[in-house]
Amino acid sequence: MIIVLLGPPGAGKGTQADKLAQRLGIPKIATGDVLRAALRDGTARGKEAKAYMDRGDLVPDSVILGILRDVMSSPAAAKGAILDGAVRTVPQAEGLAIMLAELGRGVDKVLLFDISDDKLTERLSGRTVCEKCQTPYMGRQAGSKCEKCGGSLMRRKDDEPEAIRNRLRVYRDQTAPVIEWYGEKGSKVQKVDADAPVDEVTSRALKALKK
Ligand code: AP5
Repeated sequence: MIIVLLGPPGAGKGTQADKLAQRLGIPKIATGDVLRAALRDGTARGKEAKAYMDRGDLVPDSVILGILRDVMSSPAAAKGAILDGAVRTVPQAEGLAIMLAELGRGVDKVLLFDISDDKLTERLSGRTVCEKCQTPYMGRQAGSKCEKCGGSLMRRKDDEPEAIRNRLRVYRDQTAPVIEWYGEKGSKVQKVDADAPVDEVTSRALKALKK
């Protein structure tokens, strides 16, 4: 099963992608994580993405489609994948559809995590992430240790107030039209109310996948 997760920054896509990956036994593919790893490793892809990411702008479609081509044709994605934040423009949605059709596959489900701007701003302002495995935490100090891998927790540069405002603008201008695009192509977009404790949101998402 190939599942696309949509929703604004801070809606909990990454948190829910981890939970769903565990429950469904398919990998999570988060383009944000792939790009941050490339940045950390100093690759050409990471260097190209850095300035866009720091400002909260979208990385060019060609870079994202390159990542998606690599991962979707790999054996790891043979049983399916949970695509976290991997489709943020209409050209990306079109490119992914063409790529999957070539592989004899397609997007099976689209989940839209819905939350108010106030709530997501509060979440992003309180977030730290593990610099190694990228697990997000709420209310934990930068410099403390990740429970999963022992890495150090840090603040993301794009969680500064100006970058958050820009990410919200970018979401409305460039990513919101993707919701309509999937609807027009016949995929039913299931809305999930993301303003609830993590496990409750996971139950809602699993229920939405069965509809
Ligand atoms: P990315 O890393 O994907 O950032 P994002 O989409 O802005 O999403 P976030 O990671 O900020 O939020 P999330 O929805 O995953 O929430 P999370 O689970 O962390 O992308 C970063 C950048 O990379 C982009 O700006 C862009 O530059 C580039 N990029 C990536 N993909 C791209 C693409 N396809 N095209 C172009 N550019 C691309 O949760 C947030 C916080 O809330 C956490 O602290 C978490 O612990 C907490 N939380 C989660 N759920 C709950 C809950 N239910 N209750 C309470 N707290 C919760």
